[in-house]
Amino acid sequence: MTPAPLISLSPFSPILLAISWPPSAYLWFKTLHLVGVVVWFAGLFYLVRLFIYHREAETLAAPLREAFEDQYGLMERRLANIITTPGMVVAVTMAIGLLSVQPAWLHQSWMHAKLVVVALLLAYHAFCYRIMGQLQRGTCRWGARQLRALNELPTLLLVIAVMLVVFKQQFPTGAATWFLVALVVAMAASIQFYARWRRLRAERLASQEAGGAAA
Ligand code: HEM
Repeated sequence: MTPAPLISLSPFSPILLAISWPPSAYLWFKTLHLVGVVVWFAGLFYLVRLFIYHREAETLAAPLREAFEDQYGLMERRLANIITTPGMVVAVTMAIGLLSVQPAWLHQSWMHAKLVVVALLLAYHAFCYRIMGQLQRGTCRWGARQLRALNELPTLLLVIAVMLVVFKQQFPTGAATWFLVALVVAMAASIQFYARWRRLRAERLASQEAGGAAA
């Protein structure tokens, strides 16, 4: 249901209140905001995964390495420019639409916290573009392991942003919240352990093959 407008004290009120939206506008903004958020996050998650594969491809032998690097570079640029950035633009534009209907939320602490989370996400988005450029130029210093750890940041920000918007002023700090934090940390740790296990297994197999060839 469309919420009843709160009394607004925002410095942007004169501009925002000047827009008179039809009654269903709020629900349309929210629908498209959620679609934008889903697309944005799908892009952010997959982009860093591609960076990890791109980095791992650097260990391959020459002709194969170049082919993989070119392919990953192309996939990264298309994913970033055709999916991730448009998703971000839709999410943010529709969020502005939501606030134009409910400008008083700009004075509430949950919205301030959400805006901080969004600022961090935008910085992360820009940072992904930076890493993408470095990978294309072959100057990236971030290893696959560090990139895997980096990929956990948007998960944490996603959980916080959704909790803020659902709980608003009643943000929970009890056992359930800590359980959720522990779950995110456990997920991050298991991804690192699995990657380590795969690397050690590949090294073991390679040394066994080298031993077999020498015998
Ligand atoms: C530009 C920054 C953003 C602003 C100003 C903003 C603002 C809002 C507003 C005003 C609502 C409506 C709340 C309601 O109707 O109760 C909303 C809904 C929502 N937002 Fe955002 N948002 C932003 C970015 C994000 C991001 C980055 C995420 C996800 C990580 C997100 C997730 C959601 C979700 C899941 C809802 C639906 C909540 C519900 O219906 O209970 N938003 N947002």
